[in-house]
Amino acid sequence: MDPRELMTVAETIAREAGALVREGRPDQVHVAKTKSSAVDVVTAMDIASEDLIRRRLAELRPGDGVLGEEHGLEAGTTGVTWVVDPIDGTVNYLYGIPAYGVSIAAVTGEPDPAGWTVQAGCVHSVADGRTWVAGRGEGAWSGERRLSVNPDRGLDGALVGTGFGYTEQRRRRQATVVAALLPRVRDIRRIGSAAIDLCQLAGGQLDAHYERGLNPWDLAAGALMVVEAGGVVTGLRGGPPGVAMTVAGPARLVGELAAVLEALDADADD
Ligand code: IPD
Ligand code: CA
Repeated sequence: MDPRELMTVAETIAREAGALVREGRPDQVHVAKTKSSAVDVVTAMDIASEDLIRRRLAELRPGDGVLGEEHGLEAGTTGVTWVVDPIDGTVNYLYGIPAYGVSIAAVTGEPDPAGWTVQAGCVHSVADGRTWVAGRGEGAWSGERRLSVNPDRGLDGALVGTGFGYTEQRRRRQATVVAALLPRVRDIRRIGSAAIDLCQLAGGQLDAHYERGLNPWDLAAGALMVVEAGGVVTGLRGGPPGVAMTVAGPARLVGELAAVLEALDADADD
């Protein structure tokens, strides 16, 4: 298992899919279908990007498994599974807000944050070309720059990224949580791509991120980026990160933020 080889594959394919998404974006993007609610959308480009990624993975890494947001799990035989978000930030893509990316990670173990080991990952921000790459034990990088999370500034000095789900019940609780948190932090950002948030956090452009509802493909590459940049990524109540809750940042700040989120029952819906 050479994380450096997996880093190269992840970056190569993320850039290729990024070119497709960038060059193929029509002036008017249409919704192809919806998922958990009417505002949880999929576009034709989400599907085309995942198709390209799967085809290229089959060429460069035959036998590996793939878990992708649009087509689910195809089990492999090598022990490596690629966890793929063909467009993270689809609503931004729909509206033409330049914060959406392709996220590709290679994991061993179950393709689930509770049990996986992320070996390598890349997030490519399609509209502006920013690209983050990390390998297990190899650091997290943006070009030649090695990334490092910010030193802990304490919760009241922290710029905190978050995101919201697509269903009413989930958003009601998320609204209560963010209302309680907002007076206690420097400020809140809702950028619209969890993968990009985690990469920006790894590079010091956010101090922390928390979110309920993140799927494996939203966080696989970004979580490795944060860990390789010296941070931690956890869930609440000692659990792993994942759908229930993901909290990321420097260790002490994550402890402080997680305690506040636990007290607010931020890992529940209304
Ligand atoms: C979404 C984005 C968003 C986050 C949502 C995710 P998608 O991914 O990462 O920032 O708040 O929870 O579902 O649907 O654009 O791939
Ligand atoms: Ca997506």
